[in-house]
Amino acid sequence: MRIDIISGVPELLESPLNQSIIKRAREDRIVEILIHNLRDYSRDKHKRIDDYAFGGEAGMVLSIEPVDLAISALRTERNYDEIIYTSPDGELFNQQSANELSVKDNLLILCGHYKGVDQRIRDHLITREISIGEYVLTGGELAAAIMVDCIVRLIPGVLSDETSALMDSYQDGMLASPVYTRPADYKGWKVPEILLSGNAAEIEKWKLEESIRRTRELRPDLFNKLL
Ligand code: ADE
Repeated sequence: MRIDIISGVPELLESPLNQSIIKRAREDRIVEILIHNLRDYSRDKHKRIDDYAFGGEAGMVLSIEPVDLAISALRTERNYDEIIYTSPDGELFNQQSANELSVKDNLLILCGHYKGVDQRIRDHLITREISIGEYVLTGGELAAAIMVDCIVRLIPGVLSDETSALMDSYQDGMLASPVYTRPADYKGWKVPEILLSGNAAEIEKWKLEESIRRTRELRPDLFNKLL
C-alpha cells in the first residue's frame, strides 16, 4: 500500500509515523508513506498557504491553489482509491473504516488546518471526509496520524502475530479480554488461575466470557448491538 499525506505542518506527522511497528512496516516496504509539505506547492513569494475567509468570518482558510497543485501533481503519478480530507465534519472513523481502508492500494490524505480548506477543494477533489471524533483539533495532522496507524497495523505482515489484530477490541464488536504477564503474583495481586492452567479450551472460554463481561459493563451501547 502507498499513502500520500499533504500537510502544512509535516513535522507533526514525521515522528508518530516513524516509530515502532509503523517504522518497521515502512522499512520492510509493506507500506510506503510519503509526507508532502503543502508549502512546496505555494506560488506565493512568502510561501503562504492560507488566506482570509470571504464573508468576514474569523480565522484563516487553506487556499485553493496550493492544495489543487499538490493533489493534481500527485494524481498525475497514480490513481487514488480515496482522496480523504480530515475534518471534524466528516464521517466518524472507526475500526470498520480502518478495515475497509487497509485493503486499498493508494490513499491520499489532505490534512485540514486553520479554519478549514476552501470549499471548492472539498466539492471537486475530495472523495471522502473523515473525522476521528466529535471534538475539534487545531489541525488534521494528528487525525491523519491516528488513521494511518490504525490502517497500517491491519495490513498482513505488519503485526508479527497476525491473529493479534483479530483479537483487538472492536474487531468483533466487543472489547478485548484482559491480559497479564509475569510475575503471576505481584504484592499479592494475582493473575487469574485459569490462565496458568495450560487448558487451552478453558482459557479460550474464559477470554470470551471476559470480553462479554467487559463489553456489558464498560460499553453497554456496544453490548446492546450484539443482542
Ligand atoms: N481536524 C480538526 N478536528 C478534527 C477531527 N476531530 N477529526 C479529523 N480532523 C480534524
